[in-house]
Amino acid sequence: MSVALQHHKKIYNPATAIAHPNIALIKYWGDLDPDLHIPSNGSISMSLGGLFTRTRVRFEDGLPDDRFVLNDKQADRQSSERVSKLLERVRQMSGTTCHALVESRNNFPTGVGIASSAAGFAALSLAATRAAGLELDEKALSRLARTGSGSACRSIPGGFVEWQAGGTDEASFAISIAPPGHWDLVDCIAVVSQEEKGVRSILGHTVAHTSLLQSARVENAPRRLKMCREAILRRDFEELAEVVELDSNLMHAVMITSNPPLFYWQPETMRIIQAIQSMRKAGLPVCYTVDAGPNVHALSPAESSVKITEMIGAISGVSQVMVAHPGGPARIETVQSEGERRE
Ligand code: PMV
Repeated sequence: MSVALQHHKKIYNPATAIAHPNIALIKYWGDLDPDLHIPSNGSISMSLGGLFTRTRVRFEDGLPDDRFVLNDKQADRQSSERVSKLLERVRQMSGTTCHALVESRNNFPTGVGIASSAAGFAALSLAATRAAGLELDEKALSRLARTGSGSACRSIPGGFVEWQAGGTDEASFAISIAPPGHWDLVDCIAVVSQEEKGVRSILGHTVAHTSLLQSARVENAPRRLKMCREAILRRDFEELAEVVELDSNLMHAVMITSNPPLFYWQPETMRIIQAIQSMRKAGLPVCYTVDAGPNVHALSPAESSVKITEMIGAISGVSQVMVAHPGGPARIETVQSEGERRE
């Protein structure tokens, strides 16, 4: 390579970001715009502290294509294309024409209904914009993350988060409605399967409208959002439990009545739900919610969570239990914190 070319070679510093997955308390299911992921209804979630995706992005002159390495392996074509699509948006915003190397790692199982795409696209949006020399505010980052995976917009802010459906690209983004310290709610995740699920949620959204029940679910969403938001703000567990279970059941009713029908539950899923119902009848504050996978998220106030985690771990078919308290927002990892991590 000539000296002149070397002289003009653009040097970009890499950037590393971490983001937490989130558990939806009021679910997003169905898109108005499947490309931009403008949702049919608003949703509310809690950031899952302790679980995270760490993503490093480096734009490089001369790279023939984007390269996406997930958990130390070259990612499959579908995932690589989704990552490239988001990088393309970043290239358009920043004016760079370089391709990027993206290295991402989850500290929790990928593709089993623990919203790995949410944490993944949130971390990617933050790391890629920073690596391209941009400094976006929270709203712009949330909108960008949304285009990768809808629920990723909720992994940009921290604590308890509401995604305002908005109806347009400009108006559809997530905000924090309460910081992580507001309420020590614990998500005890009962993992029943570590296999990749059959139908990814990104495809599920496109068939939600084929269920007769979707319009009723969407129409009633403002009432459930209000109940959930108020229960969080008042730290009212009973009220929260009622609306969280109803909302999860409504989403799964839509899933199994769509065309094609989508069954995410396994026999173990039902067994855990029934165990949670019995615990609640016996006076323990705990409720369930299930995403697009067979695992069950058992939510409870911190005071009861140790006992509940023990009881859930003892249910047959539960292969692993993960525990998460409310987490913070997506953030850039500094060189110093990388150093601390190695110690
Ligand atoms: O963002 P996606 O395409 O992974 O969709 C998320 C769908 C659910 O997890 C089932 C619900 C939600 O609101 O997170």
